[in-house]
Amino acid sequence: MLVNYLVPALAVLGMATAAPTNPACKQTTVIISSQSDADALAGCTTFTGNIQISKDVPSGGIALNGIQQLNGDLIANQAVKLTALSATSLGSISGTIKFTSLTTMSSLEFPSLSQVGAISWTTLNALQALTFTTGVTKAKSVFITDTALTSLDGINLATVDSFEITNNAYLRKIETQVGNISQALIINNNGPNLELTFPNLIWAFNMTVRNVSSLSIPSLKVVNSTFGVYGSYMESVMAPNLTKVGGDVAFVADSSLTNISMPLLQTIGGGLLIANNSKLLDITGFPALKSAAGAISISGNFTKAAFPALADVQGTFNAQTSANFSCNDFNKLHDAQVVKGDVFCQAQSDNVQTTLSGSTSGQTDSGSGSSDSTKDAAGSLKVSSVFVVGMAVLGGLLAL
Ligand SMILES: *[C@@H]1O[C@H](CO)[C@@H](O)[C@H](O)[C@H]1NC(C)=O
Ligand SMILES: *[C@@H]1O[C@H](CO)[C@@H](O)[C@H](O)[C@H]1NC(C)=O
Ligand SMILES: *[C@@H]1O[C@H](CO)[C@@H](O)[C@H](O)[C@H]1NC(C)=O
Ligand SMILES: *[C@@H]1O[C@H](CO)[C@@H](O)[C@H](O)[C@H]1NC(C)=O
Ligand SMILES: *[C@@H]1O[C@H](CO)[C@@H](O)[C@H](O)[C@H]1NC(C)=O
Ligand SMILES: *[C@@H]1O[C@H](CO)[C@@H](O)[C@H](O)[C@H]1NC(C)=O
Ligand SMILES: *[C@@H]1O[C@H](CO)[C@@H](O)[C@H](O)[C@H]1NC(C)=O
Ligand SMILES: *[C@@H]1O[C@H](CO)[C@@H](O)[C@H](O)[C@H]1NC(C)=O
Ligand SMILES: *[C@@H]1O[C@H](CO)[C@@H](O)[C@H](O)[C@H]1NC(C)=O
Repeated sequence: MLVNYLVPALAVLGMATAAPTNPACKQTTVIISSQSDADALAGCTTFTGNIQISKDVPSGGIALNGIQQLNGDLIANQAVKLTALSATSLGSISGTIKFTSLTTMSSLEFPSLSQVGAISWTTLNALQALTFTTGVTKAKSVFITDTALTSLDGINLATVDSFEITNNAYLRKIETQVGNISQALIINNNGPNLELTFPNLIWAFNMTVRNVSSLSIPSLKVVNSTFGVYGSYMESVMAPNLTKVGGDVAFVADSSLTNISMPLLQTIGGGLLIANNSKLLDITGFPALKSAAGAISISGNFTKAAFPALADVQGTFNAQTSANFSCNDFNKLHDAQVVKGDVFCQAQSDNVQTTLSGSTSGQTDSGSGSSDSTKDAAGSLKVSSVFVVGMAVLGGLLAL
């Protein structure tokens, strides 16, 4: 009896698995060397495996028609004659879009694409814009380097783990709705007029921003590890909602910077470094800063600097300016046991140094400025273990 029931049931199952699975739609890697190779996949709504555009593809475009879902990677490496790539119905790619050295590809048209595992693009010198009409909102990682893109319109992520955009000389704008970046945000050496806008970003694991002209992070509350801004062209860095940075905080070599404002920042899990920002005259933008687990080093041309809420600095404290400035408040920080390491403050310095090791030579010629320098500098600069810890943290900052 039972057998009588089972047999037809199995027969049905058997038919289901034997249903027309076109073998073309499941291959480890299919190599596309021509449009007819691409057309052979047009019947595959889902393709399982990797699709690789051959480097020998002839001059012109390739259209991947018909495929809606790719369970695998889309790869093109050194296909230097490929001028355009399109996939009008492709909505998702589980793997990586990995493009390298597609030097003449000027059009990338994926109007339906919304999800990709990862984007990894290197050397797409002719690509100025994306035709991603729907827009990619989901990707684990985005790495884009050495392209001619002027914007990343079409990539507007809701979630991403790692976002690294470097060496795109024409890039003027990056705006993404992302709420958190769970690994790294790295922006480096793109065009000189790059504006970064992260209106909804609440936390990022770490953030390294170089060579940008503006940074908008109104919602940012926490950076779990390091936060650094280097070599930029920004007049101000405002982080109105930032309360905590788990690692080092650095502002280095921003020639236009006049204002850093982090009104709610209370704790820094590493050190604070402010150096080589020649127009930064006012360092009072940290009114709530209570503690730093590393060292604090501020140097430059500042005339005003204060950390009114400071209660605990585990490392050393270095403040050096070329301007007239009273060191009185800073000099009290060591004896008040706020700064556990050594304090060195020097005003009207003609040799402003970033680190305390540099200042040991500076103090001998502090001469007339000595009333503004730490009285016990000679004694306290004898290397203590806390001093070494502080320097190690600063060393980490400087190596960034
Ligand atoms: C990160 O952002 C995503 C999308 O906004 C959200 O669903 C998720 O809860 C966030 N995770 C954390 C830990 O904040
Ligand atoms: C940022 O975090 C990632 C891991 O999430 C790490 O690989 C990278 O080195 C970190 N970068 C900096 C500057 O700390
Ligand atoms: C800043 O944080 C407060 C409190 O969490 C929140 O209400 C406010 O919306 C945040 N501001 C922005 C611009 O996200
Ligand atoms: C980073 O900090 C946020 C906010 O405190 C937290 O929700 C998140 O889990 C942290 N992420 C990591 C990777 O530690
Ligand atoms: C970019 O920033 C770095 C510092 O991180 C600096 O050395 C470099 O000169 C800057 N590049 C330009 C073009 O300003
Ligand atoms: C810096 O910007 C903040 C916020 O806009 C403002 O309150 C503060 O007065 C500015 N400081 C300087 C020195 O311009
Ligand atoms: C500041 O600039 C000087 C001179 O260019 C350089 O020696 C020093 O390393 C810079 N400091 C930092 C923290 O980059
Ligand atoms: C002070 O300002 C001058 C003139 O802008 C600049 O050349 C110098 O590098 C600045 N010093 C520091 C330490 O930023
Ligand atoms: C520095 O400022 C103080 C207080 O304003 C002033 O008394 C002193 O003369 C100034 N020193 C120089 C060299 O400008």
